[in-house]
Amino acid sequence: MPHTLDPNLRRALAERVRYCHEMGIYDFYRRGPRVSESATVAAEVDVVSSTSQELREEMAARKPAVVARIAEEGIFETLTPKPEHGVADPVAALKLIREDLGDCTRCKLHKQGRKQIVFGVGNPRADLMFVGEGPGADEDTQGEPFVGRAGQLLNNMIKAMGIRREDVYIANVVKCRPPGNRTPERDETETCSPFLMRQIAVIKPKVVVALGAVAAKNLLAMNASMSELRGRFYDFMPAGARSSDPSWQGTKLAVTYHPAFLLRDPRQKGEAWKDLQMVMKFLGLEPPKKSE
Ligand code: URA
Repeated sequence: MPHTLDPNLRRALAERVRYCHEMGIYDFYRRGPRVSESATVAAEVDVVSSTSQELREEMAARKPAVVARIAEEGIFETLTPKPEHGVADPVAALKLIREDLGDCTRCKLHKQGRKQIVFGVGNPRADLMFVGEGPGADEDTQGEPFVGRAGQLLNNMIKAMGIRREDVYIANVVKCRPPGNRTPERDETETCSPFLMRQIAVIKPKVVVALGAVAAKNLLAMNASMSELRGRFYDFMPAGARSSDPSWQGTKLAVTYHPAFLLRDPRQKGEAWKDLQMVMKFLGLEPPKKSE
């Protein structure tokens, strides 16, 4: 018999689904057969209201490790297997993700002037990964992230950390250029970020650095200002990664300013350098000697 959802349950479910979408989880499975309509609805109310309350508390406490907990809670029986699952070689696994992305038409960006998809570049076994917002005009032309002016500054930041661009992996939340370099819209990030999550799950970097608020908010699924987001490490596990995977050592995530912002406000470079020094300390990196 059809029943009307209690408004609180509806709200809690909507919040739960929105949260999962932000995490890149789109496939939901009902757990087990229904015992009785009313018993199941009552159980669902319990699960949803307690977990959404938990999530609210966790998000308020800024603990993005909730991603791992979602998988472990068993709320979703199965996450759809992906072609790269079980592929040990990260080069081959990334290739499979790229093939899965194909000539993507999943969101409206494909018909808004993008020249090509900008997948990602760098060392598939990198300890350090940078995540930006989305390709700009230069990236769209060259098919590689961060190759324009902001990219030159990012290269300098990487060099100052005592490493080379080829040592790290660089990707964006959305893989197609938003028209006029506008901020990617929610439906676009929701559609594209599962591919970023899969890239991170394959590369398993020790540290992900989110460049700017769009990347940070997307990766951490939290809405906070840059001043709140910066200055600390977060435990991070990409949605869809298997927390039971023994090769998963746990990734840290740090937030710093987007290089394009630093070009506009170079006074903040010192703050960005503090963020990078925190990452360097964690990774045991030393800045290059003056002569290098
Ligand atoms: N800005 C981004 O966020 N990503 C790029 O690849 C280039 C500029």
